[in-house]
Amino acid sequence: MSIRIPDPGKPVIAILTTSDRLRQFRGNRRNFRDIIRTGKDMGYLVYVVTVRDLKLEDKVVSGYVPSASGKLWYSIPMPLPQVIYNRIPNRDDEEKALVARKISECLMHPDIHLYNPHFFNKWHLFEWLKESRATSKHVPKTRRLRSANTLIAMLKNHDSLYLKPENGKAGKGIMRLKYRSDTSLPYRLQIQSGKKNVTYKAASIDRLWARIGKEKGASRYIVQQAIGLATYHGRPFDLRALLQKNGRGAWAVTGIGARLAGARSITTHVPRGGSIEEPANMLEGTFGEERTAAILKNVPTTALLIARQIERASETMLGEMSMDLGVDEDGGLWFFEANSRPMKFDEPAIRKLSLERIFQYSQHLSRQSK
Ligand SMILES: Nc1ncnc2c1ncn2[C@@H]1O[C@H](COP(=O)(O)OP(=O)(O)O)[C@@H](O)[C@H]1O
Ligand SMILES: [Mg+2]
Repeated sequence: MSIRIPDPGKPVIAILTTSDRLRQFRGNRRNFRDIIRTGKDMGYLVYVVTVRDLKLEDKVVSGYVPSASGKLWYSIPMPLPQVIYNRIPNRDDEEKALVARKISECLMHPDIHLYNPHFFNKWHLFEWLKESRATSKHVPKTRRLRSANTLIAMLKNHDSLYLKPENGKAGKGIMRLKYRSDTSLPYRLQIQSGKKNVTYKAASIDRLWARIGKEKGASRYIVQQAIGLATYHGRPFDLRALLQKNGRGAWAVTGIGARLAGARSITTHVPRGGSIEEPANMLEGTFGEERTAAILKNVPTTALLIARQIERASETMLGEMSMDLGVDEDGGLWFFEANSRPMKFDEPAIRKLSLERIFQYSQHLSRQSK
């Protein structure tokens, strides 16, 4: 088979992932298919490439494209990309020596643009956002969880805390701790497990710390002030923003959705019983129409400030991120986390624009010299 000829004036784009012995490559195939289809419609040559197959010294690399039905993936010779969309699927893969080396080779390559080089670490995000006055007011009080003393210190000012793994996602490993002085078992630890959560009650901080240790194992954790979130029919919800750079290379809000917590969940994740909702619907019950409009006007401004500060402080080039924001009972906005490998948004309008922006930003990048 002969090599595909790209459209002149349009960059060749590769979706970067890791190889898999059984499935050719890792990552969300449906997402990759959507990206490739959108790129094709917009006139771009785009394919999936594994870290192993991306040989920067060669002119031709072996890339994957889906069959017409989308069920099979063919390996085809492709020209080296000018832009790399990084979808290394998880931190374990990202930390492998071969992967880390390839990422830094791409970053140093004179003609290849790679953005979002790394996953974010939750602790770093809070450190970065505390550095700027404009963003620090949206950051819950957060510390690294090193010992029971950290908990004691945090409980002095906050009677409810969230414990979260620094490298967590999708609610995995999240716990909530409440202190109630009026009972003999004052420490209540809620541990998320599947769609439900189990509660452990402890009489002493030592007992509590032992139980937390069992749960967190060797993972690093942060402990954070719990924000009293606004609720909808008694359930907390949060806002999820997708930010991407546009065709001019400027940060823009692609869309804002809402996620409503499942009945017995301490987080709002859809796999844990949460649901996708319309932000205005979530807010109007608590805030009424006028205040809801004011809050919703604030969200993009705040999210953009946060995105710019994260990019600046990370000292890497970023092109997209998703962000979880909480709304407290007074309508204040709180940052919970940002993700450098956003999962796909299921709201159709957000999804469509998010796919197009990948190519608009790639086009912008290809016009820049490194
Ligand atoms: N400090 C907090 N106060 C109130 N709710 C929180 C807090 N931290 C997290 N949550 C809830 O838990 C969810 C998951 O937390 P997050 O930090 O996004 O972890 P994950 O990486 O697992 O998604 C948030 O979307 C929010 O609903
Ligand atoms: Mg989250």
